[in-house]
Amino acid sequence: MDLRELATTTHLGVPLLLSPPAPADADAIYELVQDPSIPRWTTVPSPYPREFADDFVASTAATWEAATTAPPSAAVAGPELVWAMRVGGRFAGCAGLKRHGGGTLEIGWWLGVPYRGQGIVTAATALLVTTAFSPDYPLQATTVTWHAYLGNQPSARIAHRLGFRYTGLFTDPDAGPCWSAELHPGDPLTPSTPWTAPGEPLAA
Ligand SMILES: CC(C)(COP(=O)(O)OP(=O)(O)OC[C@H]1O[C@@H](n2cnc3c(N)ncnc32)[C@H](O)[C@@H]1OP(=O)(O)O)[C@@H](O)C(=O)NCCC(=O)NCCS
Repeated sequence: MDLRELATTTHLGVPLLLSPPAPADADAIYELVQDPSIPRWTTVPSPYPREFADDFVASTAATWEAATTAPPSAAVAGPELVWAMRVGGRFAGCAGLKRHGGGTLEIGWWLGVPYRGQGIVTAATALLVTTAFSPDYPLQATTVTWHAYLGNQPSARIAHRLGFRYTGLFTDPDAGPCWSAELHPGDPLTPSTPWTAPGEPLAA
């Protein structure tokens, strides 16, 4: 099945489409990433001039183009697969799966401020992890990991809500301390263990 076009609905019944970023998205990308919350919590650079958006779209398109000839498997490391999250036909943000190899994918996202608080990223994450583990798609991951800079509670709530199990802190050489959690095939997409031990992100 085609990884490029994925569809779901949010818990409020709003249709959500995931598809590759396109040149027509570059203006929205440029405008939405100006919010300081995005460079604060992701690797998106700041300042972010307009041409960065064009370069980003071109590089994600090249990755998808390569994926047409070599279906991307989680078994093999490769460039991040990036989808635009689209609501009502509008570009809302990006979600990605980094391919670390060995069956592991790392999920990440940013969403434009006007679209937050509606369950969009929770729905996109549920869709992407289901796709990552599905035998009907080429990825066939054995682990999906989530990493967040220490203190990113909104991100932690999404991972926890979808059943990720907290696996501890690690230190990113560039970003400092990070939380990590992971999900495996067959895990229910509902909160699993409470994230309550000292240093853990949530008191669920
Ligand atoms: C973190 C971020 C991605 C959250 O996106 P979002 O779409 O607003 O998150 P969601 O809508 O899925 O969750 C927000 C709210 O929707 C509601 N919600 C979502 N799914 C729900 C469900 N299945 N049932 C009920 N309520 C739900 C909850 O009220 C939730 O609020 P809470 O987090 O206080 O519990 C966004 O704020 C962002 O882009 N931040 C900056 C970049 C960033 O931090 N990226 C992550 C790096 S690790």
